[in-house]
Amino acid sequence: MNSLLARKPVADIVATADRRIPKVLGPVSITAMGIGAIIGGGIFIFTGTVAALNAGPAIVLSFVLAAIACAFVGLCYAELSTFLPVAGSTYTYTYATLGEFAAWIIGWDLILEYAIGGAAVAVGWSGYFVSLLQAMGLGLPPRLTAATGQAVTLADGTTATAIANLPAAAIVVLITALLVGGTRESARLNNIMVAVKLTVVLAFIGLGAFYVNTANWHPFIPPNSGTFGAFGVSGIVRGAAVVFIAYVGFDAVSNCAQEARRPQRDMPIGILGSLAISTVLYIAVAAVLTGLVPYRELNVPDPVVMGLRAVGQAWFSLFIDLGALIGITTVILVLLYGQSRIFATMAADGLLPPVVARIHPKLGTPWISQITIGAVVAAVAAVSPIDVLAELVGVGTLFAFVLVCAAVIYLRHLEPLAPRPFRVPHVPWVPLLGILFCLVLIGGMTPATWVRLVVWLAIGLVIYFGYSRHHSRLNAGK
Ligand code: ALA
Repeated sequence: MNSLLARKPVADIVATADRRIPKVLGPVSITAMGIGAIIGGGIFIFTGTVAALNAGPAIVLSFVLAAIACAFVGLCYAELSTFLPVAGSTYTYTYATLGEFAAWIIGWDLILEYAIGGAAVAVGWSGYFVSLLQAMGLGLPPRLTAATGQAVTLADGTTATAIANLPAAAIVVLITALLVGGTRESARLNNIMVAVKLTVVLAFIGLGAFYVNTANWHPFIPPNSGTFGAFGVSGIVRGAAVVFIAYVGFDAVSNCAQEARRPQRDMPIGILGSLAISTVLYIAVAAVLTGLVPYRELNVPDPVVMGLRAVGQAWFSLFIDLGALIGITTVILVLLYGQSRIFATMAADGLLPPVVARIHPKLGTPWISQITIGAVVAAVAAVSPIDVLAELVGVGTLFAFVLVCAAVIYLRHLEPLAPRPFRVPHVPWVPLLGILFCLVLIGGMTPATWVRLVVWLAIGLVIYFGYSRHHSRLNAGK
């Protein structure tokens, strides 16, 4: 029992932090990094389906609800990231607070956020890719562009069953090759792509605003259809649970606490600032999109492009299509990169086999784990429907957020006197509100998603008790 609760001492974690990392980041650059990590596939992909199936124009409120949950959790991240200024995010915080077993669960759970997140966003990428090809007069066989078993409409109007989503798998393979090739190049490419995606989002809002037909916003909250999650208030909650994936990434900002000039000021500004800016952009995109076309027509894989075509701006939609593709690519890159680094940290602690952390002698990248992750994510992206993946990412991330909020409360009791450059106000109330909002969002998901989370965690338990526990460095006193 003791070994399950063994904690990595806070002092050890801080001591292993690399002191050579220069403290160069100010609040503006941290906020920019956050925006780069947050805005991506979610806004381009899920806004359409959620408006059409769950919330109507009130999808705007879904974005607000999800943002409120993230804001409470973001404050907790700000405290923990300045208290434990090392990379490794939630996994590291949990190891220092709730102990090894909880840390394993979190590390295992983060696979849902990062690897499954990568798969979800790759499926969205495929939607925009197919749309771009169609706009150029090229078509891929529909049976090769959707999840295995989904019904697709063929060129002659008949329906057929899809075999696999090949473009989704292909983009994962390509990005994996890029990441195996070298991280520095990837980071440079990433900066350019972040600028492109922001331009596209702003351009969509700017141009789209001229074509909004306010009649499309009525009724703002369509009445519930009798099923939980189909419009009405429950539709807003279900919508928030699905679009939650659009906010995934702000937690990644916590990884740069070590590089912040004045972490106590810069981290909360960076985390909350990037959240606030993303929220405003999301609300604007959602409002414009539901103003362009009646929400019921938005259940398509490329809603933003579809909205512009509907108001006769096909030329501009090409530009948006290309920008969305680039923007979504950055997110897949960040998620697959993050997954390999979390695995490496877990392997260094002995919880995963050492091969996972092995670095290629020339390329300097964890090539074996990166390729394995790429292969699994590509396979998942090829066969899974996007809504199932999105909810799985949401539930996994929200579960991790609940533990982060709990860790803040617990750590205040455990190490009350330790210096905290940034303190969450009104503890325990703010972390408790964070937990409450996360649970509301989890409650908005389908029961099938809860079952998938439980099955996933059960598999994690088997691996922990079968392997990790016996190889843990902390337990071995190494
Ligand atoms: N927040 C990321 C996105 O929306 C995962 O693509």
